[in-house]
Amino acid sequence: MIMSTNVYGVDLGTFNLKVFCKANGKVVNEKNTIAIVNKNQLYAFGNDAYAMYEKAPDAIQVSFPVVNGVIADYNNMQTLIGEVLDKHVKSHIKGAEFIVAVPTDITEVEKKAFFDLFYKSRFKPKSVLLCEKPIADAAGLGLDVNSPTGFMIVNIGADTTEISVISLGGLVLSDLLYLGGKRIDESIISHLKRNFSLVVGRKTAMYLKEELGCAVAEEEARSAVIVGRDVVSGLPIEMEVSSSVVYEAIKDNLNSICNAIKMILEKTPPELARDIIHSGIYITGGSSKIRKLDLLFKEITNIQVNTCDMPEESAVRGLNKIVSDEKFRKLAFSMKSRVYK
Ligand SMILES: Nc1ncnc2c1ncn2[C@@H]1O[C@H](COP(=O)(O)OP(=O)(O)OP(=O)(O)O)[C@@H](O)[C@H]1O
Ligand SMILES: [Mg+2]
Repeated sequence: MIMSTNVYGVDLGTFNLKVFCKANGKVVNEKNTIAIVNKNQLYAFGNDAYAMYEKAPDAIQVSFPVVNGVIADYNNMQTLIGEVLDKHVKSHIKGAEFIVAVPTDITEVEKKAFFDLFYKSRFKPKSVLLCEKPIADAAGLGLDVNSPTGFMIVNIGADTTEISVISLGGLVLSDLLYLGGKRIDESIISHLKRNFSLVVGRKTAMYLKEELGCAVAEEEARSAVIVGRDVVSGLPIEMEVSSSVVYEAIKDNLNSICNAIKMILEKTPPELARDIIHSGIYITGGSSKIRKLDLLFKEITNIQVNTCDMPEESAVRGLNKIVSDEKFRKLAFSMKSRVYK
């Protein structure tokens, strides 16, 4: 029996680590978080480590090894990816093929870190390929990335927002903003502190964003009860927060993204702009799930906006399409041949 090589597509996000496994067609999604005790002993990883975030005693260090889309802590990233693969992928991992999504506009050294993470791993892969995230994202959306048609993809993740115009399998224009879901959470935290003297944690801010966040002012207010610490008394209190408060807190961040999209549109060559007007703007990434974000972008640009299901997984699904389809495979590259040729 000939055993075909298994393929893993990997998107190491700042917040979520996604792995697509070709053998079963499933996506594994774990928080890209690690908990370390005694300086170098693994205590927990993934979702379990994230559950400890902002709750652990000093002896346990909970951290995110990817920052602003690049690997900031190589050793912990290596431990973490190894543990995640061990947990979710029981067989066919040795000698598998890996394809890893990398942000555009990072240095060769930063790219090499993504490559080495797999190439030098104990999994002894058959090959390691890299692919630019926006290209993977577009493939995941089912777009024919090789065609001479312009597409605009806006991926709004946790640390970054990447605005890209692609055509013929390459990037024509792009802009990387260091603004994503985490910054939006921080804006909610500072807004509550400034206006209500209430200190809340990041998870609470994220909960408010996901429950009540909306990109346009809503006519009917919704609300949620949260617990924070009152700055004046220093004691924990319960407070009801309304959706209009959350809207006020996050609207400047969303406007910054709108302005960046407008700038890219202004720079887009007219023939490509025509394609984008025809097909609409595509929004992906977990933060594209903010309610009515498509309406806001449409209002600002006058262009139709397309949303998708599971927007945080579109890049990782696209990676699989790229390695599995001969006509897309050339969109991936290996660092080995690039560097040591
Ligand atoms: N329903 C929702 N409404 C608003 N934001 C959401 C929602 N669900 C998830 N998010 C946000 O999506 C973000 C995670 O998305 P994603 O997995 O695409 O990021 P990432 O790939 O880890 O980050 P990056 O691409 O910046 O490296 C988090 O900031 C999370 O708060
Ligand atoms: Mg991402």
